[in-house]
Amino acid sequence: MAIRDVLRMGHPLLQQTAQPVTEFNTAELQTLLAEMFEIMAEQEGIGLAAPQIGVDQQVMIFGMESSARYPEAEAIAKCVLINPRIEPLSERIEEAWEGCLSLPGMRGWVPRYADILYRGFDQSGDPIEVEAHGFHARVVQHEYDHLVGVLYPQRMRNMSKFGYIEELFGDAQESELTDSGEGDE
Ligand code: NI
Repeated sequence: MAIRDVLRMGHPLLQQTAQPVTEFNTAELQTLLAEMFEIMAEQEGIGLAAPQIGVDQQVMIFGMESSARYPEAEAIAKCVLINPRIEPLSERIEEAWEGCLSLPGMRGWVPRYADILYRGFDQSGDPIEVEAHGFHARVVQHEYDHLVGVLYPQRMRNMSKFGYIEELFGDAQESELTDSGEGDE
């Protein structure tokens, strides 16, 4: 049972920049992260940002093991990222299907930087600095966008590739989609 509902597109908290975390290693932060991991697992998401559960903080989590549901997708170690910053490492853009727990049942074809460097902090306040590529880079950019009030449709160039999964893909199983980018984030 979900402790909190995931907010959906249209909610004001999904349209604003979240507040930076100023205190690390607190019980509140631990509780928030535990709740976020629980909700992400329960909803079978591959990422979640605190504003999606109504918490105005620059906190995001992501990660997945390789799964039957996303056979093409690489595994990404479970990660907490707080007060993140992202820097593109090349001009290379990749497009792929993306989903979001705040837009249930929908997919869009979204361009993202293929190569990024992200920085931030873990729950103890220790710095994180990671180079990411492809699907990993996509997930981080998607979650980061939640912290600055942006949802994936705002990144799209071709709105004819935005819609409900059943209408876009008909009877095709999710696992038969041509790209590994899909998944709810
Ligand atoms: Ni999302």
